[in-house]
Amino acid sequence: MIEGHAAIEPPPGVPVWDVDPYDPQTLADPDAYYAELRAKGPFVYIPRYSVLACGRHQETQEVFSDWERFVSSRGVGLQDFKLETPWRSPSIILEVDPPAHSRTRKVMSRVLSPKVANALREQFLVAANKLVDELLEKDSFEAIAELAEVYPTNVFPEAMGLREVNRRFLIDYGAMVFNALGPDNDLRRNAMAMGPEIVPWITRQCKRENLRQEGFGAEIYAAADAGEISEDEAGMLVRSLLSAGVDTTVTGIGSALWCLATNPGEYEKLKENPKLLRPAFEEVLRFTSPVHSFCRTADRDTEVSGVEIVAGTKILCVLGAANSDETRWPDAGRFDVNRRPTGHLAMGSGVHGCVGQNLARAEVGAVLTAIVNKVDKIKLNGPARWRPNNAIHALDTMPLTFTPR
Ligand code: HEM
Repeated sequence: MIEGHAAIEPPPGVPVWDVDPYDPQTLADPDAYYAELRAKGPFVYIPRYSVLACGRHQETQEVFSDWERFVSSRGVGLQDFKLETPWRSPSIILEVDPPAHSRTRKVMSRVLSPKVANALREQFLVAANKLVDELLEKDSFEAIAELAEVYPTNVFPEAMGLREVNRRFLIDYGAMVFNALGPDNDLRRNAMAMGPEIVPWITRQCKRENLRQEGFGAEIYAAADAGEISEDEAGMLVRSLLSAGVDTTVTGIGSALWCLATNPGEYEKLKENPKLLRPAFEEVLRFTSPVHSFCRTADRDTEVSGVEIVAGTKILCVLGAANSDETRWPDAGRFDVNRRPTGHLAMGSGVHGCVGQNLARAEVGAVLTAIVNKVDKIKLNGPARWRPNNAIHALDTMPLTFTPR
């Protein structure tokens, strides 16, 4: 056993690469690691963690979306739930396979449908306009603390129907969940240390009585009333919203601001043609990959691109590397708002593809619309710093100035 999964031998012909994908410096600035991973072949064997890793688009998509051979029920991090007990009870949507997955997924797809997300657009835009107006009053502001973290923690708990909001706990819980997917390093240990304070609070917010009668939370409990899921399962699905719905959009907004601040010419194109907003956010997702890597576990002996993979192998699917694969996207290292990056893996692929993506697009779309309508220039006032996390590629700090249009 190593990092909670079975140790494996390197498969014949697969390069052995002594790299630490979870080194904080690599996590903060991963481009060279992504490029080398792709250059080495369809898979590499990383002895430090006894895993296979893939970063070319083709294999990453194949492994990530083939739930029959590469399961999620054994954990989407390094730990194999078949061999070691996870830190919390597994998610009943992310960490299960069909047919169990299909039942809970059906409920969540309905609760977070495109229609539901569309109905929230107006209220999201009002909140975004207000926040951008406030930031325009300041000479300079901290874009992560004052915008990227503020906006989702205002609109998302409201849309969920949470009665009590603790911004810090919501953000830190996301960081815990995602750091938990990595090895037993400082990032994971520091995140886990927050558990005793945060987890009981999160567990309480998932209960029916702590959710208002309108909102996603109540919709999930309505599915329990209709007999589709049990009361306990409803609480677990509300927990999934709190696990996956905050940190990801915080990251998406921060990364969008970074792309626009560091590519002023692309921002000018958005101002000239706001119709580009939607594809531009897809390009932000491709270019920055908020979820940089998730794992799958081979549930049987199999083969991908001629590489033999034995049952029990943990495979690190490096979505960030796949999204910058030049063979899929020419000039992949350029942020281009005119690109149509269909097929990027930032929201996953296949049966587990992000069930909150309509909502994420509505939230970030509202923020970008408010900015494009009101802000002439987005100026970076100092270096942007990244916050290493075992599964998320997110900014920590970024000083910005907005000048009015
Ligand atoms: C920019 C924002 C977001 C990004 C980049 C993102 C990314 C992802 C990715 C990569 C997956 C696939 C995981 C896998 O296959 O193992 C996923 C699944 C999921 N996401 Fe998101 N997500 C975002 C926003 C959201 C939001 C706002 C919510 C909730 C409202 C959400 C809830 C979920 C859930 C519950 C799953 C599991 C779906 C399943 O297993 O069927 N996500 N997300």
